[in-house]
Amino acid sequence: MEYVSLNNGIQIPSLGTGTNTYGKENNDYNGELNGDFALLESAIKMGYRLIDTAISYRNEAGVGKTIKESGVDRQEFYITTKIPPSKEYTKDKETVRETLNQSLINLQTDYIDLYLVHKPIEEEERLKVTWEVLEEFVSQGKIKTIGVSNFSNEQLEQLNKFATIKPAINQIKSNPTEWNNQWISYMHDHNIRPQAWGPMKTTDGQRRILSDIGKPYDKTWGQVILRYQTQRGIVVIPKSHNPENQQDNLESLNFTLSDEDMKIISQL
Ligand SMILES: NC(=O)c1ccc[n+]([C@@H]2O[C@H](COP(=O)([O-])OP(=O)(O)OC[C@H]3O[C@@H](n4cnc5c(N)ncnc54)[C@H](OP(=O)(O)O)[C@@H]3O)[C@@H](O)[C@H]2O)c1
Repeated sequence: MEYVSLNNGIQIPSLGTGTNTYGKENNDYNGELNGDFALLESAIKMGYRLIDTAISYRNEAGVGKTIKESGVDRQEFYITTKIPPSKEYTKDKETVRETLNQSLINLQTDYIDLYLVHKPIEEEERLKVTWEVLEEFVSQGKIKTIGVSNFSNEQLEQLNKFATIKPAINQIKSNPTEWNNQWISYMHDHNIRPQAWGPMKTTDGQRRILSDIGKPYDKTWGQVILRYQTQRGIVVIPKSHNPENQQDNLESLNFTLSDEDMKIISQL
């Protein structure tokens, strides 16, 4: 596994697995929970250690059980979860504490590696309350790293006005249909690690170009797109229901794209 550093000195795997449809009927995000985590089990067996879940995926408990039953040492894992922005979870400090403690119970762990605010909390006071409790959990060792997701640069600045602990990560959408380069540059400039969700989204035409780029390296379009992102310092969390794709995605880390190919991909 390849690792990159965060602004708090902690190392994070460059690549992990998303889970937002795992444990659900028909692999459907909104499907009934069916307890089927075979694809997470296979990912862990292959060597995935960064696992990305969220309260809103409704599958924290199944993810926690699968990790626990994998037999792999807890310290090897890098578990991420996320607090939804709604009042139900962020109304006041006590509510946020209950939310975070419930994640610890669901995930069957005494610490969570990365806790993100899933989406911007528009009301500044509620954002402040939520962030202060996240900081409290860091000081208690119950969370190692805190960050955000889908926060614009302005929203990051708003948070930084009162944050004692600066966000280490902003998880945003980034793929060839929408690189969000300005956003990513801002994060690089402010020592916030970008993490890409939805990294595989591509048009047919883009996949053809990426496949051609991959040929000399003996890599697929999917491997090329993931490597492009990790090579520019972006952590990726692709999700697959196909073990072959899971394996390919992991093996995207074992080659290096030339500067010329990086340039072509940046212009897709
Ligand atoms: N923070 C947020 O707001 C947010 C929002 C969305 C998602 N997320 C997180 O990000 C994770 C990833 O995003 P996502 O699941 O929306 O999208 P994704 O990982 O970009 O795309 C998933 C799709 O890509 C396909 N795929 C994966 N690897 C492939 C490969 N090597 N070759 C060809 N196709 C491949 C999968 O099909 P197969 O199953 O057939 O392989 C699946 O249809 C989520 O699971 C979730 O944990 C976060």
